[in-house]
Amino acid sequence: MSNSAQLLDYGPDAILMIGLDGDNWRLHDYEARGGYKALRKILSEKITPAAVIAEVKKSALRGRGGAGFPTGLKWSFMPQQFPGEKFLVCNSDEGEPGTFKDRDIMRYNPHALIEGMAIAAYAMGCARGYNYVHGEIWTAYERMEEAVDEALAAGLLGKNILGSGFNFNLYNHHGYGAYICGEETALLESLEGKKGLPRFKPPFPASYGLYGKPTTINNTETFAAVPWIINNGGEAFLNLGRPNNGGTKLFSVSGDVMRPGNFEVRLGTPFATLLEMAGGMRAGRKLKACIPGGSSMPVLPGEVMMATDMDYDSIAKAGSMLGSGAVIIMDETRCMVKSLLRLSYFYYEESCGQCTPCREGTGWLWRVVHRIEHGQGRNEDLDLLVSVSDNIAGRTICALGDAAALPVKSFIKHFRDEFQHHIDHQQCLVPAYP
Ligand SMILES: Cc1cc2nc3c(=O)[nH]c(=O)nc-3n(C[C@H](O)[C@H](O)[C@H](O)COP(=O)(O)O)c2cc1C
Ligand code: SF4
Repeated sequence: MSNSAQLLDYGPDAILMIGLDGDNWRLHDYEARGGYKALRKILSEKITPAAVIAEVKKSALRGRGGAGFPTGLKWSFMPQQFPGEKFLVCNSDEGEPGTFKDRDIMRYNPHALIEGMAIAAYAMGCARGYNYVHGEIWTAYERMEEAVDEALAAGLLGKNILGSGFNFNLYNHHGYGAYICGEETALLESLEGKKGLPRFKPPFPASYGLYGKPTTINNTETFAAVPWIINNGGEAFLNLGRPNNGGTKLFSVSGDVMRPGNFEVRLGTPFATLLEMAGGMRAGRKLKACIPGGSSMPVLPGEVMMATDMDYDSIAKAGSMLGSGAVIIMDETRCMVKSLLRLSYFYYEESCGQCTPCREGTGWLWRVVHRIEHGQGRNEDLDLLVSVSDNIAGRTICALGDAAALPVKSFIKHFRDEFQHHIDHQQCLVPAYP
């Protein structure tokens, strides 16, 4: 099987990525699969914005960007009667290590995102929207540009869409590649042409967003699910998943599996099934650990994962978070000290430096893990790592601080013996594998 064929095997329950062979992303292909039916229905039947929001609430769609916040509820925070301009923003920054799903939506099903954004704009009264694409993702950005042009030419974007009187212009914005620009307020600053530095919250973007105007920001996958919800009803979407966890979810499975890639499954699917879809463990090795929701989420031991289902509430109960759905698989050949060293360097490097606990603390975390890995660990180092983490989490402007701290505590909690072995014996507990 070729690489692209692997990427496009999204699974039997796919609703976001169904039936794509890599070349049929164009408008006429999308319309042949029922695309833009939802937007046409809303505009021609004059369905009220409130009714659209109610349907999204019913669907139990939760934000696919990381925090899992209920989408319908977020939409209802937009002030309907605001007299000036309101904005809609799509977060396609996707800089979280392990996450590579949004670029596939943009590359292979870009009109689902455009239609979802147009419906959202209608529901919240926004005449202008931006899709902020990560600076290192070129093909997805170019694809989105082509798709927006197609939609404009067909009267599906722009002024007086389909003769309804509804106006919505959508612009793709290519970022520069900083992880922090995925944080929603840093993204807004960057869109305004400034440095991507997170803002204090509150005020939240619904009241003070882009250029100080009411703004709703959602993830690419969140918007792309909306046309299906309108076509099939919120309840049908909810029933694809579990109560409070509606629909399907794209999981980016990477690491020590036979067939890494994106897999779309119903929320609540057992982790073991997802692992099987990814071809199982590489070289017949054992599952040692898994980070279930992107590098900023706590790691869990393999046996805990094997007893867990892939939905927001089950993963939270198991001690981690579903996050962006990036499932990083580690087998028994992986040294947990070395793995944490790599992660802590990432957060140290990506901290924007605005707040002291994050700017200084991420450096401390990296330096202490570095010395443990390199045979200079001290007995007090594990308690020091936990203490530094506790002094970062919850004390910063944005959640990057928590993202740096939470993995450290979980690595030590679940794999303390490996860290202690490095300190006691100046070498790795994991045997050398051929
Ligand atoms: C450091 C950091 C990076 C983030 N990166 C992304 C990202 O790349 N994409 C994304 O959708 N959300 C990201 N988020 C979450 C966003 O701030 C925001 O919650 C999300 O875009 C809201 O969309 P949703 O409700 O549809 O999930 C990030 C958050 C933090 C703290
Ligand atoms: S937590 Fe870190 S990344 Fe976020 S604002 Fe503070 S210094 Fe910047």
